[in-house]
Amino acid sequence: MSALHQEFVPKPYTNSVESGSVAWKSPSNIALVKYWGKHGQQLPKNTSISFTLDHCATSTRLEFQSKQDQGFDITVLLDGKAQPDFVPKIEKFFTIAMPYLPFLEDYSFTVHTSNSFPHSSGIASSASGMSALALCLLDLEAQLNGNGLSEEGFKKKASFLARLGSGSAARSIDGGLVVWGEHQEIAGSSDLFAVPYPEAVHEVFHDFCDTVLLVDTGEKIVSSTVGHGLMHGHPFAEQRFDQANNNMQAIKPILASGDLDAFITLVESEALSLHAMMLTSSPYFILMKPATLAIINKIWSFRKETGIPACFTLDAGANVHLLYPAQHKQQVRDLIENELKAHCKEGAFIHDQVGQGALRL
Ligand code: PMV
Repeated sequence: MSALHQEFVPKPYTNSVESGSVAWKSPSNIALVKYWGKHGQQLPKNTSISFTLDHCATSTRLEFQSKQDQGFDITVLLDGKAQPDFVPKIEKFFTIAMPYLPFLEDYSFTVHTSNSFPHSSGIASSASGMSALALCLLDLEAQLNGNGLSEEGFKKKASFLARLGSGSAARSIDGGLVVWGEHQEIAGSSDLFAVPYPEAVHEVFHDFCDTVLLVDTGEKIVSSTVGHGLMHGHPFAEQRFDQANNNMQAIKPILASGDLDAFITLVESEALSLHAMMLTSSPYFILMKPATLAIINKIWSFRKETGIPACFTLDAGANVHLLYPAQHKQQVRDLIENELKAHCKEGAFIHDQVGQGALRL
């Protein structure tokens, strides 16, 4: 039995709501210090920090109609087309969210969702999708509650719920830099929900850019569930969790001072360490493709030749996130057009940058 977090269990509802709809747009995020390995009910083994993105986002409109019978009734439409494949994941999310949203069986739900990026792009839509859904459900709860939560309480519970759907989704509610996972040296940090990074941040990071270079647009080789599972009994698991927690400590002066050389070293090492976990797990996986390595090498050559502080990070897949300060946008975008695009599937990439967080529509 997982512990019940009383703080997020609502008081008996005061209003009755027959039907209606609510809508949110929620962004994706890119981790600088990676979350990889979990325990209990979607609790992280180490602290992570991410930039919230802006353009890569999911818009979700949740329609609800009260019903009498028991059980969940969920229909999902992606760009207007029914997606029965998405339902089991949402049912699983509803099952663990029930104590915190006890109305989930009282309504028939239709989830109308669309992504700003192509669904087949290989970009994790679970962070933006789950956070958008969690926010919609909380908006419905606010109607049932009358007074509802404070703005801060709302965000906290939204992050808590999003985490139950997909761990990294916890970091998609707030904008800027967001931390998830308790860390001694980061005030207010928690395993249960993400919080805005509370320390000083140099202005270079306020509008940092991320171009997602789409190398592989197919299904993920390793699902997140399987991937996190590989960390159980992994020979380097404890060292990895220590490394990530140490990197959280190390990134603080870097974020405060804008030391981009140190930023690059930390961020690229984090990405490669994440992949090293996959290379050394049982069973083992190689998630990079030849094009991933070709792009990384070209980024390194570009950095050496021009001195421009562009670097890469990776998620649990082959796509490359190219991170760079906004002031170097033009030169980096020339590099993408002239050199990197050729390695992307059908020449596809998405220009993005640090965003403001989720938005009610
Ligand atoms: O949220 P999940 O369970 O899909 O995990 C994603 C983990 C990484 O994207 C690989 C790293 C991270 O911190 O976002």
